[in-house]
Amino acid sequence: MPIKSVTVRVPAKVNLQLSVGPRESDGYHQLVTVFQAISIFDEVTVKIGEQASGINLTVSGDQVHGVPTDASNLVVKAAELIANKFEIDIDVSIDIKKSIPVAGGMAGGSADAAAAIVAIDELYSLDMTREEMHSIASQLGSDVPFLLSGGTAIGQGRGDQLTAALSRGTYHWVLALSSVGLSTPAVYSECDRLRQGLDISEPQISDALMQALLTADPSNVGKLLVNDLQPAACSLRPALRLILDVGQEYGALGAIVSGSGPTVAFLVSDEEHGLDLAVALSASGVVGSVTRAFGPVHGAKVIESH
Ligand code: C5P
Repeated sequence: MPIKSVTVRVPAKVNLQLSVGPRESDGYHQLVTVFQAISIFDEVTVKIGEQASGINLTVSGDQVHGVPTDASNLVVKAAELIANKFEIDIDVSIDIKKSIPVAGGMAGGSADAAAAIVAIDELYSLDMTREEMHSIASQLGSDVPFLLSGGTAIGQGRGDQLTAALSRGTYHWVLALSSVGLSTPAVYSECDRLRQGLDISEPQISDALMQALLTADPSNVGKLLVNDLQPAACSLRPALRLILDVGQEYGALGAIVSGSGPTVAFLVSDEEHGLDLAVALSASGVVGSVTRAFGPVHGAKVIESH
């Protein structure tokens, strides 16, 4: 019997290093980043044959607000790219069950796109190679290829040229979420504005961070977290500075704005420390909501197919 429905689970990410080079003529920036996939997951279900033609998109779950359900959603764009490449009609209903914060700097939209690629591949028995999936993913956004593979990886170029990074151990995170997101292009523009007149060098991988990831000791890693977008995110959202300070006061091993923000990620020593910090942050009154996660975890993966 042909498959009629596929569900793919896909994680969020944090950037352990996000080093941003000068703005290029195409508007993008050369990046060197270290991604870690973490245990906050969206689920994307793609079903065949429930409607006559086209793509019908719905969003469910705890993070629905602000997710487009029209052709501007990256899952629709993913389906269109695949339809063109393989010269097939893709008539499906897609449901995104969202838990990854929207516009939170954790690649939620990119994660859904990666999940859609994996789901459509399975549903239409396309047998895409990793390279084919990667090529479609990188046309959709700089973070999409990483969410296909997950784990820990170094991203270069726009962030889409990946090499696996060696990492030992499990890292526990406390995430301070904001109810209002930040626009990634706006944060990059603010970064350019803040750096006007400065001589910005080519970004380099942090060898110290790569060494620290081999020790499996979060206190080594915590000290080396770096995000060049953090001043820009804090400039657009000054409350983030206070959140970073409060987390550090309460003993976080490292504190960083995740990607373009506004989520703030705190590295903690273990689950218990995470629980303590989460309670302290909630009680401080400066954080909207708090969640916990661990990484690294696997990338987009089929969890149901029938
Ligand atoms: O690639 P993606 O669509 O995720 O990028 C969103 C925005 O982030 C881009 O429009 C651009 O403003 C900015 N960006 C950048 N340099 C990168 C990646 C993203 O300037 N390497």
